[in-house]
Amino acid sequence: MKTIFSGIQPSGTLTIGNYLGAIQQFVELQNNYNCYFCIVDEHAITVPQDRLELRKNIKSLAALYIASGIDPDSSTLFIQSEVPEHTQLGWMLQSISYVGELERMTQYKDKSQGQEAISSALLTYPSLMAADILLYNTDVVPVGDDQKQHLELTRNLAQRFNNRFNNIFTVPEVRIPKVGARIMSLQEPSKKMSKSDTNQKGFISMLDEPKRIEKKIKSAVTDSEGIVKFDKKNKPGVSNLLTIYSSCTGESIADLEKKYEGKGYGDFKQGVANAVIDTLRPIQEKYEQLIQSDELDAILDQGRDKASLSAGKTIKKAKKAMGLGRK
Ligand code: AMP
Ligand code: TRP
Repeated sequence: MKTIFSGIQPSGTLTIGNYLGAIQQFVELQNNYNCYFCIVDEHAITVPQDRLELRKNIKSLAALYIASGIDPDSSTLFIQSEVPEHTQLGWMLQSISYVGELERMTQYKDKSQGQEAISSALLTYPSLMAADILLYNTDVVPVGDDQKQHLELTRNLAQRFNNRFNNIFTVPEVRIPKVGARIMSLQEPSKKMSKSDTNQKGFISMLDEPKRIEKKIKSAVTDSEGIVKFDKKNKPGVSNLLTIYSSCTGESIADLEKKYEGKGYGDFKQGVANAVIDTLRPIQEKYEQLIQSDELDAILDQGRDKASLSAGKTIKKAKKAMGLGRK
């Protein structure tokens, strides 16, 4: 069976973008692959975090993974910092990463822009991400569109290591969903929807109440044309809402265009809101049960132990290949 690895940062409550771009594919794929799903807390600290908030977000993310349909018995769900091999291999891969290639990463450029004190970890973050993936002999990495460049670098680092030392790493493939790979901000449809957006109206959190979801969608930026049609360039707001709608219900964009032909944006937005609310309702209910139970700790303990087993084997081989330690 082939192996899947993917990670999400516990840096705030997940958005519908994370769900449609990432988690929805995880749930779909989990029965056909050996899956590792990681809460990448060490990635989250590349920008400042409040310690209590971070702790809370880690647990909340674990609950959201499971509430969304990740089965902790068949998939391995764990916290990155509880498996120290991630930072170990991360360091080793930093030694073969070039500053120039790291500086070219769009995410680094975006996150460092205008900042005065940029942590060096923000720059070396893709080497740690490569370590996450390579530790588990990963074949496929399902992610949203924004991670494509990091995956390309991961492939380069794997090949570079294999050529320079010993052929021990599987070179992973990226998997991007056909619809929903890049959900945009509701307020600025030229920008990716992000959980760290300072404008709350720009994103829908997976835990937003139905009333709030409806309000946010109703105030989403569209255009003055009044026609429900997919046209990313000229109608980015409407196109984004169509993408969200289609990813939630499975109806094709063409079918949705037909359904709303001759109707205004009011009707359409109500339809989008209902689709999102219906998608999130069962997840939110399951989340409330989980977050109050002790189940989560047992699941995360089991995940850590399973992940450690595989990570331990790889780190041994990688150290040997590089000549670290004594044997
Ligand atoms: P992050 O929240 O940055 O840790 O991202 C976790 C996963 O969600 C990654 O696979 C991202 O590519 C995906 N993702 C994040 N934001 C979006 C978005 N706006 N649209 C689609 N996928 C997203
Ligand atoms: N960098 C990813 C993000 O910000 C999160 C991540 C870390 C990840 N390690 C990973 C994704 C390994 C896939 C595989 O979204």
